[in-house]
Amino acid sequence: MRRVIIAGNWKMNKTSTEAVQLVKELLSKISDVKDVDMVVCPPFTSLESVAWVLGEGSVKIGAQNMHWSEGGAYTGEVSAKMLLTIGCQYVILGHSERRALFGESNADVNKKLRAALATSLIPIVCVGEKLEEREKGQTEHIVRDHVLGAFEGFSAAQLRRVILAYEPVWAIGTGKTASPEQANEVHAFIRNVLEDKFGELLAKSIRIQYGGSVKPENAASLLSQPEIDGALVGGASLDAESFSRIIKAVT
Ligand code: PGA
Repeated sequence: MRRVIIAGNWKMNKTSTEAVQLVKELLSKISDVKDVDMVVCPPFTSLESVAWVLGEGSVKIGAQNMHWSEGGAYTGEVSAKMLLTIGCQYVILGHSERRALFGESNADVNKKLRAALATSLIPIVCVGEKLEEREKGQTEHIVRDHVLGAFEGFSAAQLRRVILAYEPVWAIGTGKTASPEQANEVHAFIRNVLEDKFGELLAKSIRIQYGGSVKPENAASLLSQPEIDGALVGGASLDAESFSRIIKAVT
C-alpha cells in the first residue's frame, strides 16, 4: 500500500513569525490525524523556526529547492546538508516555477536529485505540462521527458524513496484543476513509463502526488482516484483551516 502524502508548498509567502503562527494553528487542527504523511515547505528563512515548532511530531518539514553542489561559490543557493542539519526531511525539486522563471532544466533536476539522494532527504520531483503543450496533445511526451530526464542514470533501487508530483502547469494557481479522471490518467501513464524503464516494483510502489489548485472542495475526489497518492498544495496550504481540511479529506 502506498501511504498518502499531503505537502504544502508555501512558495515565497510568510515571514518567519507568520510561518510559526501558521504551523501552530495547523498543529492544533490535525492532532487526531493518523496514517497520512504531512509536510510543510516554507521559504528557507522560516525553515529553522518552523522545524523548532514541529519538533519530532507528525508534520515534517521540507524545502522548496536546493543546489546540487556540496558548497562553494554559489551565491544565493543552499546545499542538501544545510537543509538536513536544520531539520528538513524533504525537498521539492523541479517545480514548474523553478523551470519557467529560473530556467531549471531536466539536467539540473537530475543533478539536484543525485545530491538529495546522496543524503537522507526525501525528494519530491515535480513534472507536468503547460497549457499549450496539453492543447497540442503533448502531455505524455512532456511528462515522460520530465520523469526520465530527472531519473536519468539512477537504478530503481536508488529511486525507491523518491516522490513524484504531477502538476499540470495550467492548473497551478489558476483555480482550474485537472478533473480527477484526467489526473488519474496521467498518473497511470507515469507508472507505465516507470515500469518500462525501471520495472514493475518501482512503478507500483512510487508515490505520485497531484498538484494544481487542490482545495478542500476538490481534495476528496482527487484523492479517491486509485493512482493518486497525495497532493502538493500551494495556495490552500497558506491557510491552516483549508490545509487541514485537505489532509482530513484523505480519510
Ligand atoms: P496551487 O499550487 O495549489 O496554488 O495551484 C500548487 C503548486 O504549485 O505546487
